[in-house]
Amino acid sequence: MLECFAGESWLYRQLWHKAASGATLDKDRNKVIRAAEERPGWACYAGDVKRVFGGPWFDWRAFDVVDIDAWGSPWPFLAAWAESSRARAIDTLVFLTDGYAGKVSLAARCKTLFPAASGQRGQMSMAEYQGIARQALRSRWGDPEVLAFVRLRGGAGHMRAWALRYTADCWTENGSCRASAHE
Ligand SMILES: C[S@@+](CC[C@H](N)C(=O)[O-])C[C@H]1O[C@@H](n2cnc3c(N)ncnc32)[C@H](O)[C@@H]1O
Repeated sequence: MLECFAGESWLYRQLWHKAASGATLDKDRNKVIRAAEERPGWACYAGDVKRVFGGPWFDWRAFDVVDIDAWGSPWPFLAAWAESSRARAIDTLVFLTDGYAGKVSLAARCKTLFPAASGQRGQMSMAEYQGIARQALRSRWGDPEVLAFVRLRGGAGHMRAWALRYTADCWTENGSCRASAHE
């Protein structure tokens, strides 16, 4: 299990404690210290997730469950994970909490998904947003199967989340996603 953002361990207590083993990160050192106290046997590190994915941190470990629950947009972190040259499991389940699915505005934070719309303002329907996100997944981040897009009731109210399944054929030999390798 790779839990990209330890945070306050809310998801860990609800769900991820069921994982046989795992690693977690957070840029906030105090949260990592508290996370380590709650996660016996887990590897708990402080660091910036995007920078860490660009380096050798656990790149030999083929995580088969990946949780990306950042504040706001999950897409830059999914991109960093998918485009890194890591060992890959035959099947990987990826959960993305999507903090801006609810906002659906073309704001600056949407840069990763909508590079052409950078700096523009405006609204977008949920269906349009989902369509663009699915297209970006197919063409840029390894063509996973989209298992679900759900609305969750969680710690901070309602959230939307994606559940994706990456299979071995999503990856090149060096472990990065096929789609970007072909661009
Ligand atoms: C939504 S919270 C995570 C909540 C956590 N899943 C839980 O259940 O409590 C987001 C966390 O991401 C951390 N964070 C935000 N950007 C980060 C980055 N670039 N690298 C590492 N941690 C980051 C924040 O410190 C915060 O603890």
